Order: sequence, then structure tokens, then C-alpha cells
Amino acid sequence: MTLLITGAAGFIGANFVLDWLAQSDETVVNLDKLTYAGNLESLASLQGDARHIFVQGDIGDGALVARLLAEYRPRAVLNFAAESHVDRSIHSPEDFIQTNVVGTFRLLEAVRAYWGALPEADKAAFRFLHVSTDEVYGSLGKNDPAFTETHRYEPNSPYSASKAASDHLVRAYHHTYGLPVLTTNCSNNYGPYHFPEKLIPLMIVNALAGKALPVYGDGMQVRDWLYVKDHCSAIRRVLQAGQPGEVYNVGGWNEKPNIEIVNTVCALLDELRPRADGTRYSAQISYVKDRPGHDRRYAIDASKIERELGWKPAETFASGIRKTVQWYLANPDWVAHVQSGAYRDWIQTQYVRDEAA
Ligand code: NAD
Ligand code: TYD
Repeated sequence: MTLLITGAAGFIGANFVLDWLAQSDETVVNLDKLTYAGNLESLASLQGDARHIFVQGDIGDGALVARLLAEYRPRAVLNFAAESHVDRSIHSPEDFIQTNVVGTFRLLEAVRAYWGALPEADKAAFRFLHVSTDEVYGSLGKNDPAFTETHRYEPNSPYSASKAASDHLVRAYHHTYGLPVLTTNCSNNYGPYHFPEKLIPLMIVNALAGKALPVYGDGMQVRDWLYVKDHCSAIRRVLQAGQPGEVYNVGGWNEKPNIEIVNTVCALLDELRPRADGTRYSAQISYVKDRPGHDRRYAIDASKIERELGWKPAETFASGIRKTVQWYLANPDWVAHVQSGAYRDWIQTQYVRDEAA
């Protein structure tokens, strides 16, 4: 049995593959374009492991996806691949439309052709699991109830609009063609291997480098935060037991304003790696211009996945953020290679050389 997983050199996909192969011998074919966000160094521990097959390529390359499906005959496709950073989507939305909308469409087309030709039993067992975000639901007021799966879509950034479009396509392929799809809409993840352009890893690496900690606007925007390994366990559970055509919201029941997150990171660093001059990391906080169209609050109601599939997060925010800060302190090489750009050479040194050998 095999899974085709797209975007698994990225933050969540890499964590998913590492966790998957720690508890299963089912082969994973990892299709990733290796954009700036793709980092095979995150999967370095799988070097030489025959259960992980890496293919550099684009989900929008229909011929490549068709070839991989024909060759590896996966029982499921898990789509993590996306452009994922809101700020980048504001500066240059084109890539978001190409990958998140057009790419997902092409992937669905290739999967539909493959799935349609499967024997009946395999067809019924097949799953297309689409990994999405709570940002498709838009922004909540202070006292609004958290997003349920039936909340209307009100995306506000080019990123969330492109993810919303992909969710709609996935839904339509179920409704129109009967493709057995599953969609998960998850809140903000944090944890190991997180690219330091997103809030939590950026604050950790900037703090350690003695740089400013840029907090947008008043820092009172609220996100729900989930430890990445809990997101991975939710995806495993949805793949195993989710009902085709259903959507599952995934969250940590853990809403916090950004400034509180930044202060927590600073306090953990004060404890675990105090500054040489004895001052506190929070002195590095700098309020900067707000993000245009900045969503004020996201909150996930994750009761459906708990009620129907028995999933709950294992980590509290206190335990997850401590593990995360400890991971960044224990992995300075991973951080340094991201910062220097050397992580992008990993495919040359580790994979291309292997093939030639
Ligand atoms: P990421 O940016 O770290 O990784 C994305 C990966 O996709 C990278 O390895 C990149 O090289 C790859 N990729 C990009 N375009 C591709 C293409 N056209 N073809 C093949 N591969 C391509 O993102 P992430 O944080 O790991 O997010 C993974 C998924 O989870 C995304 O779909 C995102 O929308 C969703 N999500 C993320 C969060 C979060 O907090 N990070 C929360 C909820 C949902
Ligand atoms: P981010 O990690 O980019 O995730 P998203 O925008 O998808 O929620 O940002 C999380 C929150 O932190 C968001 O409200 C924007 C804010 N933020 C800052 O205040 N400063 C920063 O440098 C970054 C990257 C984000």
C-alpha cells in the first residue's frame, strides 16, 4: 500500500511523513516542487529509507501526476502542497493562484482519471484528502462563536481566497464525480521544521539573533494555535475514518492574541537560553505597521472531529510551545541552513548524488 503526499518537504507535510513512517511501513511518495518553503533537510533522517520516495515536481503537472499514479498505484492522495504565507500572497498573489487553484485543479483531474479506472473495491476505498485552513472562513468579531464546518466562506487575503477556491473544487469533484474526498480546515500550526517567516519560528530565530521582534499593528489579533503533531494525528484519523465528502475542522481550543504568543516565546527563551547581558528578550519587541486587510480573529470549533472521529489534541499550548522552543535551540544547523539558503542544496548533495552513484 502506498500514499501519494504532495508538499511533504514543507512544514506540516514533513512532520506528517516523519510521524507516518514512525508508526507505519506504508510507502510514501512525496511530490514536492521544492519552492523556497520546501526543505528536504527536514526529512534527512529518512535518507536511505526505501519507504520514502521523493519526486521533485509540480502538482500542476498533470502528466507527471498521472505517471506517478500509474506507477505507484496509491490508495490515497494527501494534498499538502500550497503557497502558504499570507504576507507573500499580499506582495505577489500569482503563485498562490497557480499552485493553490490551478495546481489543485490539475491534481484533481489526474486523480479523477486514475480513480475512475480502478477496480470497484479499490475505487470505494480510495481517498483524496485535502489539507486546508481555517482562514477560508474569514475574520471573527471578539464575541462571535468559533468557526464550524458550516460557517460561510469569507476569505480576505489572496492566500485564503486561493485556498477557498481549492476547497470548492475538491467539494465539486465529490459532488459531481463522486470522488471520495475529505477536507480538513485547520488553525495555525507551530512546531519543528517551521520556516522562520511565520510568527512563532520568526520570533525564536530573531530573538536568538538579537534582532527586532516585529509585531504587526497592536498585536491583539487572535489565532487558534495547534501543535503540528496534533494536526498530523488529526489527518491520520480523518484518512482512516472520515466520511467521504465531509469536512472536518481541526483546532487546539487555544485562542491567543499574538502579543501573548510573542511574550511566551520570550519568557521561554529567558529561561532556556538567557541573554548574555541579563536583559529580557521581550525588550526586542517592536510594534510595526499592520498587515493590509489583517484578519482580527480566527477560532476553530473542533467538536465535530472529536464527536465523530474521537480526535483531540494531545498537547496543551504550554507543552507544545516549550517543545517547539527546545527544538529550535537543539537544531541550530537546520536554522542556519535555512537562513543561508544552504538547505536548497540538499537535493543536490543528498538525492542527485545518490541517483548517480
Ligand atoms: P509550507 O509552505 O511549509 O509547505 C508547502 C510545501 O508545498 C513546500 O514544500 C513547497 O515546496 C510545496 N509546494 C508549493 N507549491 C507546490 C507545487 N505547485 N507543487 C508541488 N509542491 C509544491 O506549508 P505548510 O505550512 O506545511 O502547509 C501545508 C498545507 O497545510 C497547506 O496546504 C496550507 O494551506 C495548510 N495549512 C497550513 C497551516 C499552517 O499553520 N502552516 C494551517 C492550516 C492549513
Ligand atoms: P502567520 O504566522 O503569518 O500566520 P497567519 O497569517 O496565517 O495567521 O501570522 C500569525 C499572526 O502573527 C498574524 O496575525 C500575523 C502576525 N505576525 C506578526 O505580528 N509579526 C510577524 O512578523 C508575522 C510573520 C506575523
